[in-house]
Amino acid sequence: MRSWSFDIRYTRGSLQVLNQLKLPHETEYMDVRGAEDAFDAIKTMMVRGAPLIAIVAALGLAVEASSGATQNGTAQEASSMLHEKLDYLKTSRETAVNLANACDALKTTISGEAAREGSTWSSTVEAFVGAAEAMLEEDIAANRRQGGYAVEALLSEPSCKGKARLSVLTHCNTGSLATAGFGTALGVIRALDEKGLLASCYCTETRPYNQGARLTAYEFVADGLPGTLIPDSAASFLMAQGKVDAVAVGADRVAANGDTANKIGTLQLAIAAAHYGIPFLVVAPLTSCDPETATGGGISIEERPASELKTVAGTKIAPDGISAWNPAFDVTPARLITAIVTDKGCVPRKEATGDKDKEFDVKAFCQAMS
Ligand code: MRU
Repeated sequence: MRSWSFDIRYTRGSLQVLNQLKLPHETEYMDVRGAEDAFDAIKTMMVRGAPLIAIVAALGLAVEASSGATQNGTAQEASSMLHEKLDYLKTSRETAVNLANACDALKTTISGEAAREGSTWSSTVEAFVGAAEAMLEEDIAANRRQGGYAVEALLSEPSCKGKARLSVLTHCNTGSLATAGFGTALGVIRALDEKGLLASCYCTETRPYNQGARLTAYEFVADGLPGTLIPDSAASFLMAQGKVDAVAVGADRVAANGDTANKIGTLQLAIAAAHYGIPFLVVAPLTSCDPETATGGGISIEERPASELKTVAGTKIAPDGISAWNPAFDVTPARLITAIVTDKGCVPRKEATGDKDKEFDVKAFCQAMS
């Protein structure tokens, strides 16, 4: 039987994460005993992917809190301690908004319990741990739902209608290794496959961290999907040959107008897809939306160390003297996106602009759905 949830092993008081730095060659699980371990696992990209890092942050702290290692005190003291650690975890990576959204939602739960008459240190910790655990459960369900919505959206695209099976190109890793299970854009590929609608799937290598070659290809093989790995630089040529019916990517942050930050290289795929008239889908849960940031220009883009670009598996591939620019994400403007599919359905376009800029109304959608 296929397992769509193998990146984390959680039971109350214990968390282990699959060390993605060792994939695909080694399967090594690492203990996460608290906020510091969770911070390090996220920062070093032992775990990565917008939904997963939010879950690991929440559950890492849940392990620490439920171990009783933290000092006892009043409900307000428990609340301050948890808030402080959540604020610290928020700084482990900057672009994926799921992490900040999860930490803020947990802080609201904690404050609510601490303010309740009769609350105690234990009840405040318990409310937090329960909310963190609910995030794990909800993520898989959300992925399943949005996979269904995305299949519907794809089948209604004029260029896809009438085709018996579709070929989908994806970028980075958006599968079980980036979420609690099933995946976002890779979840769409899985959903198509389950319905007998998948002709083939392609993953880009996704330089320089190679999430596509190391992780998505690994998931394709594990699931027996009809997958093919391509160099990043071959994507346009693949489209030119008519081999791609749709591009599906995830998101690290969707701004209020629909501009979307995702793994570096997403923008060039969107440009090429527009050129060839291929639907370009962003598939991400509502927790990837940031209605408070008006446009993509306001999204802070993480820059990773030059060493990640200048080495492959520890071997130097560039001269020491060369400077390197290594942004981890880019921003795709809303006008290049065919649909933004969430776990609550597709985000509508703004009516008021007359679609001039082809912007989405992420803010209104988030308000309506939350
Ligand atoms: O740097 P990473 O590997 O954390 O980046 C991941 C991505 O960009 C994913 O495409 C995105 O987080 C969506 S994951 C469901």
